[in-house]
Amino acid sequence: LKNGLAQTPQMGWNSWNFFGCNINETVIKETANALISTGLADLGYVYVNIDDCWSSAARDSKGRLVPDPETFPSGIKALADYVHGKYLKLGIYSDAGVFTCEVRPGSLYHENDDAELFASWGADYLKYDNCYNLGISPLERYPPMREALNASGRTIFYSICEWGVEDPALWARDVGNSWRTTDDINDSWVSMTRIADLNDKWADYAGPGGWNADPDMLEVGNGGMSYQEYRAHFSIWALMKAPLLIGCDIRNMTAETFELLSNKEVIAVNQDPLGVQGRKIQLSGPEGCHQVWGGPLSGHRLVVALWNRCSRASIITARWESLGLESSTSVSIQDLWQHEEVAENAVSSFSSWVEAHNCHMYIFTPWSISISDI
Ligand code: DGJ
Repeated sequence: LKNGLAQTPQMGWNSWNFFGCNINETVIKETANALISTGLADLGYVYVNIDDCWSSAARDSKGRLVPDPETFPSGIKALADYVHGKYLKLGIYSDAGVFTCEVRPGSLYHENDDAELFASWGADYLKYDNCYNLGISPLERYPPMREALNASGRTIFYSICEWGVEDPALWARDVGNSWRTTDDINDSWVSMTRIADLNDKWADYAGPGGWNADPDMLEVGNGGMSYQEYRAHFSIWALMKAPLLIGCDIRNMTAETFELLSNKEVIAVNQDPLGVQGRKIQLSGPEGCHQVWGGPLSGHRLVVALWNRCSRASIITARWESLGLESSTSVSIQDLWQHEEVAENAVSSFSSWVEAHNCHMYIFTPWSISISDI
C-alpha cells in the first residue's frame, strides 16, 4: 500500500499477547511512559497499539463506536493526545466482520464512519482483525477499509490481520502496509518455531513500500520460553523483517528481556533499508534442526543466523555456497549478540558451537577486493 508508511517494518508495542482483554487507559499510558523511560522509544519502538476490548459492547444511538466507559473513561482521543505528547503513535483495533473476536462491534459495513472516527481521535495505526466475517472473502472486506482510511485525511498504518487464511501474500501488498501470514502465536517454543516456518514460505513477497509479512507479535518477556529461545525468536523475527511489536509488560520487564529487545545491531538488521526478508537457507542434523537462516542487507552485506533447533548443543556451519558467495570470498564477521568481530577474513565456511535452541546472529561483510583481483 503506497501511503508512505512501512518503508521498514513497524516497531512498537501491542496489548494483546500479555494483557488480552485486561486493558485500560492507565496501562496504555504507563506503557507509553515506559517506552520513553527505558529508552525503547529511542530505539524505534514508537507505536503504542491497543488491541481488542477497548470498545463497548454496542454502538451509540448514532451508530458510533464507543470506548468502554469503565476502562477507557477519558476516551481514545485523550489517550492519543497523551501518547502524541510523548512523540509516540497510537494504534487502534477493529475487525473486518460484524464483531471483533471478543464480541465488540466490528467495522464491516461501517468502514467509512469508523475510519473517520479513528482519524478524528488521532489514531496512527489500525489493526484489522478477521473474526465474525460472515464467510465473505477478505478481498471484499479488507479493501473498503483501505479506501475509508485513505479518505479519512489522516495517514494511518493499515495492518491486515487475516491470519494468512487466504494467502494474503498474493493480494495484500496493494491493500495494507503489513499482513499476517499465520494464525496466532503463543508463548511457547513449539508455536514460535512453527510460525517462523509458516512465514518463511512468503519471503519472496515481502519488501519495502508497505508489504511486509507479519508472523505475529513478539512473546519475548512473557515467561514461556527460555532466554536462548527468546533470543532465537527476536533474532529470526528481525531477520525475517517481521514487525517488531513487543508483547510483554514493559513496565515490569527483566533486565534480560530489555537486553534482548534493545539490541541495536539486531534492530538495525530488521530496519535495514534494503528490506529483503531473510529466509531459511541451509538445513542439516536430525530432521534438519541445525539451521542457517540468512539474507541480503544493504551495502552488499549479509545477515546470517545459526539456529540450533535440536535439543543438544552442536556445531553449525554456514557454507558460502548456501549464502550465494564464491567460496574464495573473504568475509569479516560481526557477532550481533556478542557485539564483537569474530572473524576478520573467513573463507568458504563459518562454524560456531550453538547451544540447544539458541541462535547466533552475524553480519557478514564480504571484502570487495578478492586476492585474485590484486
Ligand atoms: C485474533 C488476532 O489474531 C490476535 O492477534 C488478537 O488481535 C485477537 N484476535 C484479539 O481478539
